[in-house]
Amino acid sequence: MASGSGSNFEALVEACRGNQLPAEVALLAVNNPDCGAQQRAERLNVPWCLHDHRRFSSREALDRALVESFQSAGVDLVVMAGWMRIVTAELIEAFPDRLLNIHPSLLPSFRGARAVEQALAAGVTLTGCSAHLVRLEVDSGPILVQAAVPIASDDTRESLSARIHRQEHRILPLAVQLAAQRLGLLGPAQG
Ligand code: GRF
Repeated sequence: MASGSGSNFEALVEACRGNQLPAEVALLAVNNPDCGAQQRAERLNVPWCLHDHRRFSSREALDRALVESFQSAGVDLVVMAGWMRIVTAELIEAFPDRLLNIHPSLLPSFRGARAVEQALAAGVTLTGCSAHLVRLEVDSGPILVQAAVPIASDDTRESLSARIHRQEHRILPLAVQLAAQRLGLLGPAQG
């Protein structure tokens, strides 16, 4: 699931195709027509579907449509890879412990929108990113993998975001693998 540029989506596809992750990205769902993620899916030949939130009467109705698409595609696990909508029990309960999110902070610090700006405003010297299972409360839920990113005194939102993104691309495939192993979808953990 992606709303914007889709670099985390592409990192997952590459991890699968490069045999780092024994999985396949079966479907991309986007909510913004022609967003970067959709363009990446076209280039990478990954099937995609559009569920434009503006066309749904409620968050629940949007989530029901997403669940239908994922069930028809036969997916085992769902990743919110830059999904900028709040999700409801409709989606969370359809994929118990099978719905992951990636967030650009070391949770539980700096939940919600603009996590990178929040970290800069707070003056912390260390931030990062977290991949976690999704629960009803936004940016909560058991953490699967985190990576730390030091903040330099001359960092801007752009420079810090770029370094956090690189770490997100590294930890998201690891988090998918871990979640899948815990569910028994893959063989036992290696090494
Ligand atoms: C990432 O920073 C992720 O943590 C946040 O949204 C951003 C998505 O980036 N939830 P991209 O679309 O994967 O490039």
